[in-house]
Amino acid sequence: MTVYWPDNAKQTFGTEILRADHPFDESNLFSDDGLADLLARYPRQSLDIWTFGENREGENPALRGCAPRMSGKDIVDAVKNGHVWLNLRRANLELPELKPIADDIFGSLEAATGRRTVKQDMGLLISSPRVHVHYHLDIPMVALFQLRGRKRLWLYPAEPEFAPPEYIEQIVHMTREEDLPYRNAFDDQARVFDLKPGMGLTWPQLAPHRVQNENCLNVSLSCEFMTTASLINANAIYTNAFLRQNLHLSPRITNAIGPAALGKAAFARVHKRMQPRAPKTAPTPVTFELDTSVENCVKLLWA
Ligand SMILES: [Fe+2]
Repeated sequence: MTVYWPDNAKQTFGTEILRADHPFDESNLFSDDGLADLLARYPRQSLDIWTFGENREGENPALRGCAPRMSGKDIVDAVKNGHVWLNLRRANLELPELKPIADDIFGSLEAATGRRTVKQDMGLLISSPRVHVHYHLDIPMVALFQLRGRKRLWLYPAEPEFAPPEYIEQIVHMTREEDLPYRNAFDDQARVFDLKPGMGLTWPQLAPHRVQNENCLNVSLSCEFMTTASLINANAIYTNAFLRQNLHLSPRITNAIGPAALGKAAFARVHKRMQPRAPKTAPTPVTFELDTSVENCVKLLWA
């Protein structure tokens, strides 16, 4: 294993923020030429492209984009010169040379924490100088590894004041994106980390966060996964949405595996099995195309 987690990871994982050290920033895979090659071979229709406005209070929805015609090298140039954020989701499965890195990360995490991980998904993030990923949360657990550039991460408590349970339920049901309404006052209770190459972090499930790049290209690995506990929690939240809608209850997220959470998770498993298999579609449509000839490399469609 080449990823180092704290000695007390077994005790603190899931409830505290854990910092890791890793060597993946030294790989040639993530040089400009390496990224261009990875982008050229990654399935273009799966490439997640977003642009973000200024960070401010309230709701800050991001715009979704596409890049159907550009070469890998042109996409790298567009990210360097523009104002966009790319995620090559499932890069561990789509790009064979990244699989050993994912195996190393997830293997080290399992060894250090004593938890088995499932639904492993390593995304390669490539983002522009100064881009600000707005206040949001992720339903899976996340481990973020910095490869190139520097960025500041604000992490907030996984408490209802910072993320309304109704919103989390809608995110679980995929009827809204992960962004949440932001308040400047939240920052009083944030933990702030300056990420640099060679550094990794993982945090408690459902902890809201936002990320601001410094004035440089940023490349990171975002490793999403579920543990038994996080999977039960997500399924309990799935069921909470029905309790809220149909029984007009105000169920809380407990983050603890008790009889109630297990019962809700069991309901969710049965309910999901009974649903027709519809393709998962994101709520936000594509509204811009990546284009190096326009400001921020963001060419609005139908404008
Ligand atoms: Fe996130």
